[in-house]
Amino acid sequence: MSTIVAPSLLSADFGDLRRDLEMINRSDADWLHLDIMDGVFVPNISFGFPVLKYVARYCTKPLDVHLMIVQPEKFLDRFKELGVYSVNVHYEACTHLNRVIWEIKERGMKAAVTLNPSTPVCLLKDVIRDVDMVLLMTVNPGFGGQKFIEHSIEKVAELKDLIAQTGSHALIQVDGGVNMETAPRLVKAGVDVLVSGNTVFSAADPEKTISELKKL
Ligand code: DX5
Ligand code: ZN
Repeated sequence: MSTIVAPSLLSADFGDLRRDLEMINRSDADWLHLDIMDGVFVPNISFGFPVLKYVARYCTKPLDVHLMIVQPEKFLDRFKELGVYSVNVHYEACTHLNRVIWEIKERGMKAAVTLNPSTPVCLLKDVIRDVDMVLLMTVNPGFGGQKFIEHSIEKVAELKDLIAQTGSHALIQVDGGVNMETAPRLVKAGVDVLVSGNTVFSAADPEKTISELKKL
């Protein structure tokens, strides 16, 4: 299986969103990654349903939603209505994580659990068979363009072991500081899905950059 590439819209030009969505549609990107922030779970606010409505209308790629919000379960029906493909909820934001995972799956969406850089992989032991994907944050969530946290490579290896030991089918996704230097190392360590914001959207040729990530 070739690497799944999910550009993060956070680094797009929101003044010319339609143009950037058309670039994504033309490109080899597999999914579009959408970062939703509430200013409570993370120290930033991004965009919400009024913007997502147009993203869902114009984007032809599956939508991968990363919820950096408290009480993500409140909004699952809204994401289902938008036709979202996968929903990432943070381990740190869900008191009843097992219930939230099943609520996502019951709505026909893929369920993913996200870990902050300080949250250990071993805490996933009791949910790893239930999730379709684990997102390892490779920066502290909230902002694009941050520096990759090196320890993340070890976490990818640990997660790969946990998945193998438990017979889970979860994909391994990484998000934050993914660039042409870190991406090959992440893929080598076992990553299935690369999220990339700044590297894609600040490139001279974003479509070519997406294709290059895809070839890793
Ligand atoms: C950060 C977001 C990321 C962000 C990644 O909280 O979850 O998806 O867009 O941006 P880069 O690739 O620029 O680090
Ligand atoms: Zn993200």
